[in-house]
Amino acid sequence: MSVSVVLGTQWGDEGKGKLVDILAAEVDVCARCAGGNNAGHTIVVPIGPEKIKTTFSFHLLPSGLINPKCVGLIGNGLVVHVPSFFAEVDALQAQGLDCTGRLFISDRAHLVFDFHQIVDGLKEVELGGSSIGTTKKGIGPAYSAKASRSGLRVHHLFDHDTFAEKFRRIVEGRFKRYGYFEYDTEGEIQRYKVLAERLKPYVIDSVSYIHKAIADGKRVLVEGANAIMLDIDFGTYPYVTSSQTTIGGVCTGLGIPPKKIGKIIGVVKAYTTRVGGGPFPTEQLNDIGVYLQEEGREYGTTTGRRRRCGWLDLVVMKHSCLINGYDSFNLTKLDVLDNLEEIKVGVKYLVNGEELPGFPAVDCIHYLLCRAPS
Ligand code: IMP
Repeated sequence: MSVSVVLGTQWGDEGKGKLVDILAAEVDVCARCAGGNNAGHTIVVPIGPEKIKTTFSFHLLPSGLINPKCVGLIGNGLVVHVPSFFAEVDALQAQGLDCTGRLFISDRAHLVFDFHQIVDGLKEVELGGSSIGTTKKGIGPAYSAKASRSGLRVHHLFDHDTFAEKFRRIVEGRFKRYGYFEYDTEGEIQRYKVLAERLKPYVIDSVSYIHKAIADGKRVLVEGANAIMLDIDFGTYPYVTSSQTTIGGVCTGLGIPPKKIGKIIGVVKAYTTRVGGGPFPTEQLNDIGVYLQEEGREYGTTTGRRRRCGWLDLVVMKHSCLINGYDSFNLTKLDVLDNLEEIKVGVKYLVNGEELPGFPAVDCIHYLLCRAPS
């Protein structure tokens, strides 16, 4: 089967980028299916004849682009902030990685605008003490617009008058809901007229493209973003992102049927980290947590925030396996645990003495951390 998938098995930042970098050497197309520039992959690779170690940061673009022969595809399931797309393209170019003619974006992908990012921040303020701790990249507001059928998609950019009219109406709607905030609506419309021209060569009918690639026997790698516990359905709702980060999102975010999917690889960190608010049953708010943070260099690639740290949670892993059906695992950061005398693993959740059958829908406040059987 020519389509392989790499997914995060926990709360993200498991080290998917590193695996994608290794696998990208053998694939023809590396595709993303969900999320936006809320994701973050840092890859260090030797570049050029002198093999100079270079650090590349990917947020929106598929990190398989690191292989100069690999095509990068941004699927219909993503929400795209066009200025950030070009900022990333330009940064890669400046580091000697040319994406010309090998980076494509679906005409059905939704657009994230600066006003979505402003609204993301305003929503968080509104939530106060129970804020999600979003990346403030406008992801939630853009997916909300998609679900309420008022969003703008990439293809809308190429009918400027209709785009301008819809754009004005949407911004007015945001002013009504959140009160007036500083925003140059007409300036944005003009900026997007220019950006649309620059974006044109990248835009394709991604469904036809990926199906042709599969039919031609091309090897396709789907790079998951975020992870299952941040999935809008199966994660710790509402402390989640706004997309489907699970295997279902691969089908809906690229337009490929389940039967075309071959290997599903789950990336597992040997302990657990999470960024932002929400339940984290095995979190260690003590010296162990600080040790994992320091030893594992657990700082966010996208926001620079310190990641919350705790033990590996096998209840999460079972939930993850049931939903994503992994064929294999890639275990990362095992060496971070080297200097610990004792390593613990969460094995079950007990509520009033009763073991829960799976990861609960509600916040799991009561849990018991058991030592893994040796
Ligand atoms: P949003 O995706 O910016 O709306 O953020 C929603 C939640 O997902 C927040 O808790 C974020 O910290 C978390 N999140 C989003 N992207 C990532 C990621 O790449 N790694 C880890 N957490 C993430």
